[in-house]
Amino acid sequence: MCGIVGYIGNREARPILMNGLKRLEYRGYDSAGIAILWDNKINVTKQVGKINVLEGELNGSKIPGNLGIAHTRWATHGEPTQVNAHPHSDCTGNIVLVHNGIIENYNTLKQMLIEKGHKIRTETDTEILVHLIEEFYQNGTSFEESFRLALNEVEGTYGLALITKYEPDKLFCARNGSPLVVGIGEGEYFLGSDAAAIISHTRNVFYLEDGEIAVIGRDGFVTKTIENQLIRKKIEKINFDLERIEKAGYQHFMLKEIYEQPNTVADAMRGRLIEEEGVAKLGGLTPILHNVLRARKIFITACGTSYHAGLIGEYMLEEYCRIPVEVEYASEFRYRDPIIEDDNLVVVISQSGETADTLAALREAKRKGTTVMGLVNVVGSSIARETHGGTYIHAGPEIGVASTKAFTSQVTALTLLTVMIARTKTMSAEEGRQIVKEMKALPGKVEQALKTDSVVKEIAAEFQDKRNFLYLGRGYNYPVALEGALKLKEISYIHAEGYPAAEMKHGPIALIDEDMPVVVIATQDSTYEKIVSNIEEVKARRGRVIAVVSEGDHNLDNLVDYTIPIPMTLNLLQPIVSIIPLQLLAYHIALLRGCDVDQPRNLAKSVTVE
Ligand code: G6P
Repeated sequence: MCGIVGYIGNREARPILMNGLKRLEYRGYDSAGIAILWDNKINVTKQVGKINVLEGELNGSKIPGNLGIAHTRWATHGEPTQVNAHPHSDCTGNIVLVHNGIIENYNTLKQMLIEKGHKIRTETDTEILVHLIEEFYQNGTSFEESFRLALNEVEGTYGLALITKYEPDKLFCARNGSPLVVGIGEGEYFLGSDAAAIISHTRNVFYLEDGEIAVIGRDGFVTKTIENQLIRKKIEKINFDLERIEKAGYQHFMLKEIYEQPNTVADAMRGRLIEEEGVAKLGGLTPILHNVLRARKIFITACGTSYHAGLIGEYMLEEYCRIPVEVEYASEFRYRDPIIEDDNLVVVISQSGETADTLAALREAKRKGTTVMGLVNVVGSSIARETHGGTYIHAGPEIGVASTKAFTSQVTALTLLTVMIARTKTMSAEEGRQIVKEMKALPGKVEQALKTDSVVKEIAAEFQDKRNFLYLGRGYNYPVALEGALKLKEISYIHAEGYPAAEMKHGPIALIDEDMPVVVIATQDSTYEKIVSNIEEVKARRGRVIAVVSEGDHNLDNLVDYTIPIPMTLNLLQPIVSIIPLQLLAYHIALLRGCDVDQPRNLAKSVTVE
């Protein structure tokens, strides 16, 4: 999704801004632009396509200014064209801004501004804002005040950065619903819509909160609310390594992240399991522990891959804790007015901690007075900060747009939550110990599952040209089928559907013929016999079956086209192992089809608009 970088200091801004943009590429974008104040003029360059296209455009031009802003755009209002790319300027070109988010009342504002004679050049909502600031400024208000007053007229979400000829030594920024972090250097400041953009320069940062403005000079900054109340910001230290957001020799971030999973699964449970007692401890839940343990109903809400992890959470929480669980897409939850009682618990799951719908669902749940806990990866993200308590999944930065390691870490964290709650209910110490023991063996089993890479590659080569795939699973492996299908469609653009295996009879079976590869997760659990029957049904219609099976199970060898053997574990933990070959399958098919694995078309890593 859109990314913002800003710089003010004594160094040349351009390389710093371009470097920052490259670090934000993973978020997904379709055009990029940069504005630098130099020689009493704001120089704006923007281009459709990748950052290197913009770089090519800039080559040869000398703009050695040391104040600037830059942006990667993911189109919402208006097509991804050069004109619609950010930065956007007012009529004079003396005020220039970049924006993440959506200005909802832009149409009303646009009419008013056109009537007042402003020349609107783009189809974007963002451009309206810059003209609105110009309008206040033209009427004799100071620039800083014009900026603040304009923001008060705006409905919607924004993270924005602005430079102007009228205040040539200041970088302006503001946030409402779209994250911004300010990095503090020696006589210089860096701005980013996420920490990845600035981390190579400084670890000292402050985060803007909703409704806050920062006006940054070379020697200091002022922060205030958009109501004009001065505020003091707490300076925090970011502590993740730069190497962790680099590729470490892998061809793609996605592959690196798939291969990190033995470690990230271990990190998600590190220090949280007490083997002798068969329990899990989650320190971040301490302030809300009472409400978590006494919850009579649990809602889980999330988007995308995080939603699939939530479905697995439902199965395990209901099975072991005997608490009713409802899982819902955050985009539905937030508008549906769900019936939430005081003694319910809402769990929001988000890798980025910034997904707009999930954040809104969390706020809706809080408004209804219930306890909200987060399962989040990005430390200090909006969701992490706004929940009453929570658990970090500690997967480290996930850069590949298709989520992989966050999923397995989310499921691991949900297992910890399940064991923690279940042990205060009917789960015996013995059963708890057994789960804890199996959890500790998980990193080794994930490692083992990664060894399926070579057989998966062969399968990918055979099926790369198919236009449709079906993924089937039952029980805990049903959400794995959904997630496997999502991975394939996200990065290879092949249509893929996940289904509960038995439900296939009620529709998808009509699609099956020799051109339809069906990926079945058929590990040996209580539904094994049933899923074998489902495979028979596919084969009877000449479907091609790729079966993920338990190691040592050769029953299916003569029935299916390919088997992918993976280690067995307890049913509730099986998804963490069975998703691995499906992630690899999506990766290899996408690679063979020449798709951009880390930045698939139209997708964004962090979806900060609804
Ligand atoms: C986007 C990403 C997905 C992710 C979803 C939810 O669609 O491309 O990979 O699962 O957002 O994101 P979150 O950060 O809230 O888990």
